[in-house]
Amino acid sequence: MTTNESTDPAPGAHRAAQLSPVSRTALAVARVRAYESSRPEPLFTDPYALAFIEASGTPLPTEGPTGPLARLLVARGIMRTRFYDDRLLAAGVRQVVLLAAGLDTRAYRLEWPSGTRLFEVDLPAVLDFKQWVLDERGAEAACERVALPADLADPGWTDRLLAAGFDPGQPTVWLAEGLLVYLDAEQAAALLTAVGGLSAPGSRLLTEQGRDVSGVRAEAGLAEMTALWRGGLGSGTIDWLDAHGWQTGFTAIDGFAAGLGRELPPVGGFDGAGFLEACRTA
Ligand SMILES: C[S@@+](CC[C@H](N)C(=O)[O-])C[C@H]1O[C@@H](n2cnc3c(N)ncnc32)[C@H](O)[C@@H]1O
Repeated sequence: MTTNESTDPAPGAHRAAQLSPVSRTALAVARVRAYESSRPEPLFTDPYALAFIEASGTPLPTEGPTGPLARLLVARGIMRTRFYDDRLLAAGVRQVVLLAAGLDTRAYRLEWPSGTRLFEVDLPAVLDFKQWVLDERGAEAACERVALPADLADPGWTDRLLAAGFDPGQPTVWLAEGLLVYLDAEQAAALLTAVGGLSAPGSRLLTEQGRDVSGVRAEAGLAEMTALWRGGLGSGTIDWLDAHGWQTGFTAIDGFAAGLGRELPPVGGFDGAGFLEACRTA
């Protein structure tokens, strides 16, 4: 555990203040995970999510979301977390890369097979804040965790990953959770091309099926976040992957939720969402 000897009365909040707008979205996801973790019969328990919110100096969640889009996004965030938890472990692969890991604590809370090495890539301020909170809490990773500060919109990230010990000869499971929507189509294609170039046969890529975000009208409180959405490859994500060396399966979020006894609130224009699991064939 790292001892905090700073005289700053709120060193966590000071670090959180360094987060860019897009990186602050990681706090929004932590808030969702803290909310689910506090409910009866949660679909996962994230023991650090609330610590991130507390350390950031932002108000603690006292009640569930109220507006329809907020309720949908929270429900989706919960389903997304559980889906990827399950699929990451089911992949049976010992090299894991969390692209835009944010405040994801899977390195700490999932039961990884021995020998698993997990890379977390995100912008420096997020990883700095995250590390500070985890050290304060004495968190210990359940795998070999490598935190790699890098801008995924800069092609240099692949060299840094390789220099950090990533082995392109081994199958990898990649997770791009809540990331592609913040990239434009060109950036998303460049990122996924780089991922493909580092993916040995048998590798897997987990991400969301995109959608057209140009007409999204956000309710109060969400506009700041939805203004950051660039859409990634939109509804063409699955076709793009299949045309670039992946074989891609789709899981509808509604069906996945129903299988867990949950229902997603219906919000017009937001139907047909789901998760992609692509397997590297070439
Ligand atoms: C909605 S959060 C998702 C975080 C995490 N995947 C999760 O689900 O908890 C989006 C994350 O993308 C990261 N991000 C956005 N653009 C990025 C970029 N160009 N390079 C690295 N990380 C980026 C942000 O810093 C933020 O942590």
